[in-house]
Amino acid sequence: MRILTGIQPSGRLHLGNYLGAIRQSVELQARADDCYYFIADYHALTTVSDPAALREATLGVALDFLAAGLDPEKVVFFRQSDVPEVQELTWLLSIVASVSRLELAHSYKDKLAHGKEATHALFSYPVLMAADILLYRSDLVPVGKDQKQHLEITRDLAVKFNRKFGEVFKLPEGFIPDSVATVPGTDGQKMSKSYNNTIPLSGSDKEVKKAIMGIVTDSAPVEAPKDPEQNNIYRIYKAVATPEKAAEMAERLRAGGYGYGDAKKELLRAYHELLDPFRERRAALEAHLDDVRDRLAAGAAKARVEARKTLAAARRAVGLD
Ligand code: TYM
Repeated sequence: MRILTGIQPSGRLHLGNYLGAIRQSVELQARADDCYYFIADYHALTTVSDPAALREATLGVALDFLAAGLDPEKVVFFRQSDVPEVQELTWLLSIVASVSRLELAHSYKDKLAHGKEATHALFSYPVLMAADILLYRSDLVPVGKDQKQHLEITRDLAVKFNRKFGEVFKLPEGFIPDSVATVPGTDGQKMSKSYNNTIPLSGSDKEVKKAIMGIVTDSAPVEAPKDPEQNNIYRIYKAVATPEKAAEMAERLRAGGYGYGDAKKELLRAYHELLDPFRERRAALEAHLDDVRDRLAAGAAKARVEARKTLAAARRAVGLD
């Protein structure tokens, strides 16, 4: 079984990326025959227009994966743009990608609703993502819930292409466990780099504290009983703490006499308990950026071998050989 996943370097990664994607991708290493994990820098160009910021975020995602325990012996770990074959496959898949289907993509509609320009890159984002997945003949794709529709589009494109041109692509399955919820941001929307509502994974203790202390709450007084599910602090805490600890906080909130300041301090404590080992490993790796670059280059060389095989089959199927 081959597992593949990708993360965009569209800024510093956040708690949602860790809990929704990185953690389970790293856990899955042990169960796979091989893994392809990559940094989706072509995708990030849909939102990042500062070249220096893109370079920095790309290395940042590499550090995050490695600090989280990615095993470079087991995982082909690379930068998406080091395998440009994926762009040609995107074009070949575009032949069967219907505009009306892409117009329905939630993430596209969502970006437009947040005031982004409807560019061609944003629109064809799911086709590039399908090319990532199909190029490496992936079986299983661990992602957060927000990517479910992109996986459905990937499967649709594979089926349509295979029907039209012969069996070229393997149909992938998503791996989106129910236990891995979408982590809300400090304002209650989905935690996302584009909404400015994130709790960072790396960054100083001060920045983490500022983000947590800035979580938006209502103005209920300390004494008032509070509904945990309506509460941003609790909803984030639930994703970070153990189920027992989360149940304790829910009980305290319901009982009243437990203020938001105390709840935020408890969330900060749980954050550090969960992430300090990761944060220490990341800081140590940061001193060896050349090793990280070498690892990515070696991963890309391996990935390219696989990519060329699938691309050659797709080119043959459409008559481009
Ligand atoms: P990206 O970079 O937006 O997010 C990376 C991963 O983090 C998950 N995630 C979350 N999970 C829980 N709560 C949140 N608030 C949250 N925010 C993000 C995402 O579900 C994702 O798993 N399109 C992909 C990148 C990509 C990709 C691929 C993934 C490109 N090609 C091929 C898999 C396979 C994306 O936008 O991820």
